[in-house]
Formats: sequence, structure tokens, C-alpha cells
Amino acid sequence: MKKIAPSILSSGIIDLAKYLPGIEKETDWLHLDVMDGHYVPNITFGFSVVKSIRNKTKMFLDTHLMIDKPDRYFERFAKAGSDLICFHPETVQNPMDAVKKIKALGCDVGMVLNNKISVDTILPFLSELDLALVMSIEAGFGGQSFIPKSLEKIKLLRKKIDAEKLETLIEVDGGINAQTAGKVLEAGADVLVMGSAVFGYGNPVENIKCIKKEFGLHFS
Ligand code: DX5
Ligand code: ZN
Repeated sequence: MKKIAPSILSSGIIDLAKYLPGIEKETDWLHLDVMDGHYVPNITFGFSVVKSIRNKTKMFLDTHLMIDKPDRYFERFAKAGSDLICFHPETVQNPMDAVKKIKALGCDVGMVLNNKISVDTILPFLSELDLALVMSIEAGFGGQSFIPKSLEKIKLLRKKIDAEKLETLIEVDGGINAQTAGKVLEAGADVLVMGSAVFGYGNPVENIKCIKKEFGLHFS
């Protein structure tokens, strides 16, 4: 099942409240970008925002941590209501310990490959992951252009996951819109994160409907 995970980075929080009932009719995942101004230069939000979104929706909260030493905070995000916690392996001392810690909290676990990080970094962990998140931009800001080289990473991961009959989902994040979504799906992605393509113009609910229709995407 292919999915869109709208990234609220490009939405105003007030607008999100307004559109959430419509969004949850169109998709069941929401992508939450947490940034600390250290691992990436941008700063967004933390637990309290995740918690207030949790209180408003039953959507699957896909939480992308772009912060230093995220293992300090896994428990707080789990308690705030995150369903999936994704971390960048270079931000922790021991990625396998971090994977175990997230699982022990009852959350799904994802590992993120930032643009300059080799796909080899994630391969030893693949069978332990619920999701592999491929950045198709340099993490930190919405509205950047899709980096075509990331398609190679997606294809390689698809090959490995299929060859080993794993259930790990491939999520792709950055610069995905009506122009780039087709290539990303063709390369083997399962979940498309979309920030500006959903919230950047017009009506987010209509934008999701249009993209779903164009690519024949269905949701469980
Ligand atoms: C950026 C974030 C993305 C961002 C994508 O580091 O991880 O989730 O919201 O935004 P667009 O879809 O505009 O590239
Ligand atoms: Zn993200």
C-alpha cells in the first residue's frame, strides 16, 4: 500500500487544526519534523506539539528526529504519542542500541539516510527496521529541490528488502511533488513525505486528493 505522509513543517499550526479533519479522510500518516538547531540549522517543535496533535487525531504519527543525541528523548516522544520514531544513525553512539530502545518503548523504528550518508550505513540494520527513510534533500528545510541521485539509494534498498523478503517500508522525504512522485514510486518507495506539495499552496486536502488521483494511490 503506497501512502502520502503530509509533512506539517510547511503548514502553520493554526492551519493544521483547520485542515486536519479533511486530511485524515485522505491519508492515515502525518510526518512530524523535529529539529534542534544543532544537527540541522533549523528549529521546529518538540513533545508538546506532538502531544497536542496526538490529542486531536488518531493518525499514525511518523516522527522524524533531526536532533543531536536523540536517544535522550525517545521516551518523551513515545509518551507524547509518536507511533514511529525515525533517527539519523550519525546522531547516536550506537545505532543498534537506539533501535532496541525505540522498540522497547512500543514504537515502530525508522533509520534515516541523509543526503550525503551512504546507503551502506543502513544495510546492517535493515532487518530490524520498520522503515528506512531516504532523504532526497539535505535535511533541515522544506521547499528544496529533489536530488535525483537519491533514486539510486531507493532502488538499492528496494532490491535488498525484496531479496531478503523483509517488511521494512521505504519512505522518501524532500522535494516530492507531482513532477517527482512518479520516479520515486517507480524506484520502489512505499511512503511519500510531502511538505510544500501539500501545504505550500491552495487547499491541502484538495492537493492530497489531486496527487492521490494522479498516481492511483490508495490508503488502508
Ligand atoms: C526537511 C524535512 C521534510 C520537509 C520536506 O528536512 O525532513 O520532511 O518537510 O518538505 P518538502 O516536501 O517541501 O521538500
Ligand atoms: Zn522529514
